[in-house]
Amino acid sequence: MKAIVCAVVLMFLKSLLLSQYKLAAALSNHTERSALLAFRDQITSDPSGVLKAWNNSIDFCKWHGVTCGRKHPGRVIALDLASGGMAGAISPAVGNLTFLRKLLLMENGFNGDIPKTIGHLHRLQHFNMSFNSLHGSIPASLANCSDLRVLDFSANKLTGMIPVELGYLPKLDQLVLDNNSFVSVLPSSLGNLSSLTILSINCGLGSGSASYCLHGNIPEELGNLAKLRLIDVSGNMLSGTMPPSLFNLSLLHTLAVAVNQLHGKLPPSIGTTLLHLEAFKLAGNRFTGPIPVSLSNASSLSVVELSQNNFGGQIPPEIGRAGNIWYFNLEINQLEAYDAGDWMFMDSLTNCSSLQMWALDENKLAGELPSSIANLSIELQYIYLGGNHISGSLPSGIQNLANLYTLDMTLNQLTETIPEGIGKLQNLQFLGLSSNKIIGHIPASLGNLTQLASLYLDDNDLERSNPFITGEHPETE
Ligand SMILES: *[C@@H]1O[C@H](CO)[C@@H](O)[C@H](O)[C@H]1NC(C)=O
Ligand SMILES: *[C@@H]1O[C@H](CO)[C@@H](O)[C@H](O)[C@H]1NC(C)=O
Ligand SMILES: *[C@@H]1O[C@H](CO)[C@@H](O)[C@H](O)[C@H]1NC(C)=O
Ligand SMILES: *[C@@H]1O[C@H](CO)[C@@H](O)[C@H](O)[C@H]1NC(C)=O
Ligand SMILES: *[C@@H]1O[C@H](CO)[C@@H](O)[C@H](O)[C@H]1NC(C)=O
Ligand SMILES: *[C@@H]1O[C@H](CO)[C@@H](O)[C@H](O)[C@H]1NC(C)=O
Ligand SMILES: *[C@@H]1O[C@H](CO)[C@@H](O)[C@H](O)[C@H]1NC(C)=O
Ligand SMILES: *[C@@H]1O[C@H](CO)[C@@H](O)[C@H](O)[C@H]1NC(C)=O
Ligand SMILES: *[C@@H]1O[C@H](CO)[C@@H](O)[C@H](O)[C@H]1NC(C)=O
Ligand SMILES: *[C@@H]1O[C@H](CO)[C@@H](O)[C@H](O)[C@H]1NC(C)=O
Ligand SMILES: *[C@@H]1O[C@H](CO)[C@@H](O)[C@H](O)[C@H]1NC(C)=O
Ligand SMILES: *[C@@H]1O[C@H](CO)[C@@H](O)[C@H](O)[C@H]1NC(C)=O
Repeated sequence: MKAIVCAVVLMFLKSLLLSQYKLAAALSNHTERSALLAFRDQITSDPSGVLKAWNNSIDFCKWHGVTCGRKHPGRVIALDLASGGMAGAISPAVGNLTFLRKLLLMENGFNGDIPKTIGHLHRLQHFNMSFNSLHGSIPASLANCSDLRVLDFSANKLTGMIPVELGYLPKLDQLVLDNNSFVSVLPSSLGNLSSLTILSINCGLGSGSASYCLHGNIPEELGNLAKLRLIDVSGNMLSGTMPPSLFNLSLLHTLAVAVNQLHGKLPPSIGTTLLHLEAFKLAGNRFTGPIPVSLSNASSLSVVELSQNNFGGQIPPEIGRAGNIWYFNLEINQLEAYDAGDWMFMDSLTNCSSLQMWALDENKLAGELPSSIANLSIELQYIYLGGNHISGSLPSGIQNLANLYTLDMTLNQLTETIPEGIGKLQNLQFLGLSSNKIIGHIPASLGNLTQLASLYLDDNDLERSNPFITGEHPETE
């Protein structure tokens, strides 16, 4: 008898629990579904029509872009509507999808603000809103999304301050805020993001896209980000010097601070502390002092973009030793060369078998071009050496560089004749030799250059009897 009563009571309890569980599940299903519907209702444009099928006759877990959890059936863990051409606001109801781990709405036309209710998404790990038209500022409530690993708001119209609270996201791995219109400093709290590997707040100033940007100094605390591999704060209005601690981040492969108002000298040891450096972009600042010789120790170095600064002294003689540089731009600086020793860097650049771009124009380079120019990479497309004091002849070995598009040696002190072999540069589109002291006749082989669109030979001592000045051929200017 007792046993039967017990069994009945147990069964009753079990069914009560089960029905309570069902009730809870029904309630949570209702919350999730209505949050999704509220989200849908704010979308004003859905060119591919995927949201038409977001209706009550279909389980919401099967709606396009919606993923529910396996452990938590009926809980939305991912909402992925990337590249759907959608427009409209983001409903604050999205904050009710509390199991959400991924919110991927990039490459649409979402506008309006980022709802503050995002802060309810404690499980959010991956939040990508890049390439939309979001306005307003980043809500400080994001700091509540303590599981966040990836945050990408690049290419929107966000304004205002970058919230200090972003520094309270202990698991953040990638913070990408490129191409917005913040009016902000770089918060020093970002130095707390001990998991960060990518920090990119390239405002795009100088490329025409931005009008407001980051100002103030680069905080020293960023040097605490020991796992950082990429930092790009180019195209802003940052001033002051680079905090020395940044040059200690031994895992960095990209250091980009181009187009700012930074000044100061580079530490001599940079190439040994930043051993993994691949892209080194400091162009368009006010840096001074020499280019550290130690850079040749960074054996992965492939992009050297130090143009438009006030770097002086000699170009490190072994800069190309490791052979990986393909982009080498030091134009518009105060770099010096006087004798063959100062041009040794050219010999080392012959090791760079992928070199495509080589620009040293508007410096203070004198002396003769070494004949090793003949051994530069066959892939070389651009040589800019104009506005220096280079003397001697244009080495005949130049004819080896069969893929050259541009050879600009305008405004130098070249003497002797133009080598006949120049006619072998079948891809040449631009040849600038104006304002030198070149003599002799213009090689007839120039007539072979069918791609040549610009030829500048004026202000030299060339003989008058030349076929180009009398007509028939590419524009002579
Ligand atoms: C979101 O949750 C709040 C609080 O539980 C509730 O008041 C609101 O109606 C919900 N919104 C939607 C669209 O479900
Ligand atoms: C819901 O969407 C499905 C899939 O597009 C469609 O077949 C169905 O007719 C829709 N139901 C209603 C009530 O709109
Ligand atoms: C809640 O939704 C999930 C997934 O659609 C479904 O499996 C489950 O049966 C629903 N629960 C209730 C009580 O409606
Ligand atoms: C963030 O978390 C704090 C503390 O848990 C809470 O008081 C606050 O309401 C939360 N804000 C949001 C937007 O979730
Ligand atoms: C965010 O989405 C864009 C566009 O699809 C993509 O290019 C970018 O890599 C994503 N960001 C991150 C940090 O994964
Ligand atoms: C930022 O804008 C520039 C210039 O319009 C563009 O070249 C670059 O690709 C953009 N980057 C991103 C991440 O949107
Ligand atoms: C974060 O950084 C700020 C400023 O650098 C510091 O004052 C604060 O104590 C740090 N907070 C945490 C949680 O680490
Ligand atoms: C850089 O690292 C070295 C060696 O770990 C250390 O002695 C030095 O103080 C660090 N410099 C800065 C500016 O953090
Ligand atoms: C840097 O390279 C030079 C050779 O140019 C070498 O002597 C030196 O040991 C290297 N330094 C380090 C730290 O690797
Ligand atoms: C070219 O590379 C080889 C092999 O890495 C190296 O031994 C040599 O010193 C380099 N030559 C120059 C001129 O840098
Ligand atoms: C070019 O390289 C070849 C083979 O390494 C070498 O024999 C020749 O001397 C070099 N020429 C010049 C001008 O440096
Ligand atoms: C280039 O032009 C010259 C003179 O016009 C001609 O003799 C020669 O065969 C041509 N060479 C090449 C490589 O096209």
